[in-house]
Amino acid sequence: FCPKAREGGPRRVNHVVQLSNPKVVDAIDVEDIADQAAFCRCWKSKNWPYCDGTHATHNKQHGDNVGPVIVKKKK
Ligand code: FES
Repeated sequence: FCPKAREGGPRRVNHVVQLSNPKVVDAIDVEDIADQAAFCRCWKSKNWPYCDGTHATHNKQHGDNVGPVIVKKKK
């Protein structure tokens, strides 16, 4: 839910992650990723920047189709 949308203002995408931060930027070293990592693209993960599966609830509630980006190391 976006209170600004109710007021006719611009809609936010992010309602969860680092809300007091003017811009959320994350950097992950590729060397720190094991075989693969799933990164959140729905902005609802409690384990940001990683996907925690919350997108499934969002998709069910809103008829959306968002999901993570999975980064894999080449074998
Ligand atoms: Fe956001 Fe999975 S929790 S994409």
